[in-house]
Amino acid sequence: MKENSKHITRRTFLGTTGAVAAGLTILPSSVVSGLGRKTPAPSDKLNIAVVGIGGMGNTNLKNVSGTENIVALCDVDWGYAKRVFAANPKAKPYWDWRKMYDEMGKSIDAVITATADHSHAVITANAITMGKHVYTQKPLTHTVYESRLLTKLAAQYKVATQMGNQGSSGEGVNQTIEWMQNGEIGEVKRVEAFTDRPIWPQGLNVPKGEWVPDTLNWDLFIGPTKMRPYNSIYTPWNWRGWWDFGTGALGDMACHIMHPIFKSLKLGYPIHAQASSTLLLTDCAPNAQMVTLTFPERVAPKGSKVKYPQVEVVWYDGGLQPPKPVGWPAGKNMNDAGGGVIFHGEKDTLICGCYGKDPWLLSGRKPVVPKTERRVENAMNGGHEMDWVRACKESPESRVKTKSDFSEAGPFNEMVVMGVPAVRLQGLNKVLDWDGQKMEFTNIGPDESVRLTISDNFTIVDGDPKFNRPDIKLNAKEFAADMVKHTYRSGFTLPDMPA
Ligand SMILES: NC(=O)c1ccc[n+]([C@@H]2O[C@H](COP(=O)([O-])OP(=O)(O)OC[C@H]3O[C@@H](n4cnc5c(N)ncnc54)[C@H](O)[C@@H]3O)[C@@H](O)[C@H]2O)c1
Repeated sequence: MKENSKHITRRTFLGTTGAVAAGLTILPSSVVSGLGRKTPAPSDKLNIAVVGIGGMGNTNLKNVSGTENIVALCDVDWGYAKRVFAANPKAKPYWDWRKMYDEMGKSIDAVITATADHSHAVITANAITMGKHVYTQKPLTHTVYESRLLTKLAAQYKVATQMGNQGSSGEGVNQTIEWMQNGEIGEVKRVEAFTDRPIWPQGLNVPKGEWVPDTLNWDLFIGPTKMRPYNSIYTPWNWRGWWDFGTGALGDMACHIMHPIFKSLKLGYPIHAQASSTLLLTDCAPNAQMVTLTFPERVAPKGSKVKYPQVEVVWYDGGLQPPKPVGWPAGKNMNDAGGGVIFHGEKDTLICGCYGKDPWLLSGRKPVVPKTERRVENAMNGGHEMDWVRACKESPESRVKTKSDFSEAGPFNEMVVMGVPAVRLQGLNKVLDWDGQKMEFTNIGPDESVRLTISDNFTIVDGDPKFNRPDIKLNAKEFAADMVKHTYRSGFTLPDMPA
């Protein structure tokens, strides 16, 4: 039976979280939120709730359920998620995470979120303000604002956090950082990265509405974004290609592929962004994109043997790849596990695959450098999740941060999702200037506009090709502002941004 979400009032949800924020609610003894509560022993089991269990959420769940208690599961599609509910009969099933938080807030220690990208932030932020530890899939959020908010909330509430980019716990990322800091390729002023995604349909016209299956609560899937008629192309899984729900190939793969870039080059906020793509439609991401972000000079970390000058990071997707650097071994596929990265250093070129996999130098040299990064066992096979479990059980004062703690994942995710406005504002035909602190583009005038194609209606009539591409004109400044910070649908509210 489908639950009627109207029965879950916003007032009951906000009432509860408000009480928790004010410290009025008794939290489970095992919770460690940094607010003076008891630290559990490593042998204590966490009570974990998982939101979005039909796909990757089930993998994350399995990776923690061997040692921890799974006490609640939430999904909006009880057909797709049926087998996961069935496999976890002790966990209380929910349609609506707000109701789950209301009813089980007291007994949940930690929340794993693996829904479509557009609902990550609201689910995670409200868990954090209830003092829950959070593991949230990549991309951490849909927008820059949401990333900034999660970064600040996590710091304020002192909860253990981890973004689900498991490669960040892997050996390749560690090695890339160590080689870079040891000066193995010298200063880096240009990096190129690419993915073979999308492997789901993109560049599509908005489809007609269909009847919603009985097993799906479409209203809850829509969540904070604007309502649209249901069509089976949207969920499960294909939401990736629709701007309201996903972030295209960037959101899918850049958190895996660009993480060694962000981390080894100590990147922060970009200062410029520009992009181009195949046909850009209003609702569906293009089949291929190219995004260039410029980062200013950074202060070299302690112990580093190189400087960190201004650097350009170029992203390609949809099957596009950077040109092969001079000396590339003929016949060697640049695509390693879904993509790759080329760091162009002044002394050498460092190449790695997706997840920072198997870094190597174009010169053929094999660097031997001190291991300065912490290692996580079985990173790609559950170690990433279990490292978060470890962090949840440590007191905030002495907690060793996870490998994709929000203090880093937040700013990194801002870099990733910055590609979306860059692509969607390409019609302005200029390099966009970005003020990272203020989270705004500084060179879009109040009266500037962009045109976007609503649909591509190419047909052949009596052997004669007909092109029909209706478009829409939008105020560019308002459009940009909405991509940086969404206006949420009634019933879905983010906590305020901490100072
Ligand atoms: N780290 C990785 O390697 C990896 C791999 C795949 C997916 N992911 C990420 O995991 C997330 C989910 O991707 P997926 O491939 O599993 O997608 P999916 O569509 O297969 O699964 C998402 C699940 O969440 C449910 N859901 C959607 N909105 C919900 C809501 N508001 N409340 C409760 N349930 C909701 C859906 O019904 C579905 O069961 C995405 O953010 C994706 O980027 C990460």
